[in-house]
Amino acid sequence: MTTYNIALNFEDGVTRVIQCDDDEKVTDAAFRQKINLPMDCRDGVCGTCKCFAEKGAYELEFYMDESMSDEEAEQGYVLTCQMIPESDCVLRVPASSAVCKTAPEAIDGAVLGVDRLSGTSFGLRVRLSKPMGFLPGQYVNVTVPGTGAHRSYSFSSAPGTDEATFLIRNLPGGVMSSYLGDRAQPGDAVTLTGPMGAFYLRPIERPQLWLAGGTGLAPFLSMLEQVTKQGSDHPITLYYAVTRAADLVELDRVNAMAEKIGNVTVITILAAEDDAHDRKGFVTDHVTAEDLNDGDCDVYLCGPPPMVDAVRVHFAKLGVEPANFHYEKFNPTEEKAEAA
Ligand SMILES: Cc1cc2nc3c(=O)[nH]c(=O)nc-3n(C[C@H](O)[C@H](O)[C@H](O)COP(=O)(O)OP(=O)(O)OC[C@H]3O[C@@H](n4cnc5c(N)ncnc54)[C@H](O)[C@@H]3O)c2cc1C
Ligand code: FES
Repeated sequence: MTTYNIALNFEDGVTRVIQCDDDEKVTDAAFRQKINLPMDCRDGVCGTCKCFAEKGAYELEFYMDESMSDEEAEQGYVLTCQMIPESDCVLRVPASSAVCKTAPEAIDGAVLGVDRLSGTSFGLRVRLSKPMGFLPGQYVNVTVPGTGAHRSYSFSSAPGTDEATFLIRNLPGGVMSSYLGDRAQPGDAVTLTGPMGAFYLRPIERPQLWLAGGTGLAPFLSMLEQVTKQGSDHPITLYYAVTRAADLVELDRVNAMAEKIGNVTVITILAAEDDAHDRKGFVTDHVTAEDLNDGDCDVYLCGPPPMVDAVRVHFAKLGVEPANFHYEKFNPTEEKAEAA
């Protein structure tokens, strides 16, 4: 028997990854794992359990045309009460996690170490009590030891292991930054709650344009780990923009993965005027309409809010709309709390 990982993305941004056997229906596997996916007849008749499969191979057993049209099935819709997976899958569930009686998972961990990658960033390594299922690009909330606070961080590691890594900006005086810089000790207890977020790598079906600002490189490291395993039939261009040369971190790792994948171009950009470099300025000074391949590309953009906003304005000016545009803003936690 083979067991597959099925990522359930709920509409409130929460993701849960369940295990489904190759002779088991997805709603049954979810129920076994205490997640009540929307369901009524359980017979392929009512259509209540309809979800959208973003990725994966599967078989659909009997269902009535009234519950799902041929057109919907061709687009990728599935009836989860009749769906038997034939590979790992990613499903978009049109209901919140709370409606499905689930919530982000909280996993305990212990700090393995903190690496000072540069004056402006830390690498945090955490040993988890069990692996956390997530999609490369997603984030978790991490508690800050000794405080009641937590901060959101994108995984910079690949899913499926009990060691998680993060790439974290050093904001002097910041709650997490001060902990990492002044007090962190191996063995400190942390809790990771998640995974969350709609910023994750979809199947690569066209050229990729990936734009990272500062520690916004983190999710791309996780995505590159995934592509290193699965390969890519399409070229990937990664722009990595920072302020100073010393802020360019994890480049050896990026270049090693790029070389292994084969069709990845890595372009670095420095903003500081007094640091010599081939490409100076901001991402918006260098990304051209040509990079957007007449719109036949998927764009992934991650970094500080001003950079994300500037790139969106830049694309509008270029007048080329990419086939898919996904972005993640590293908003400060307080700002989010105020907005909520
Ligand atoms: C979905 C998501 C994913 C994220 N992933 C990452 C990640 O992978 N790596 C990473 O480094 N960060 C990431 N962040 C940002 C992160 O959650 C924290 O906001 C950041 O690390 C600052 O935490 P701190 O406790 O050190 O500073 P805080 O105590 O939160 O802030 C200290 C001071 O700095 C200000 N500040 C906070 N953030 C910024 C900012 N971006 N620009 C300017 N001023 C700021 C605050 O308003 C405050 O005045 C992410 C944020 C979100 C929402
Ligand atoms: S629950 Fe009715 S079609 Fe699946």
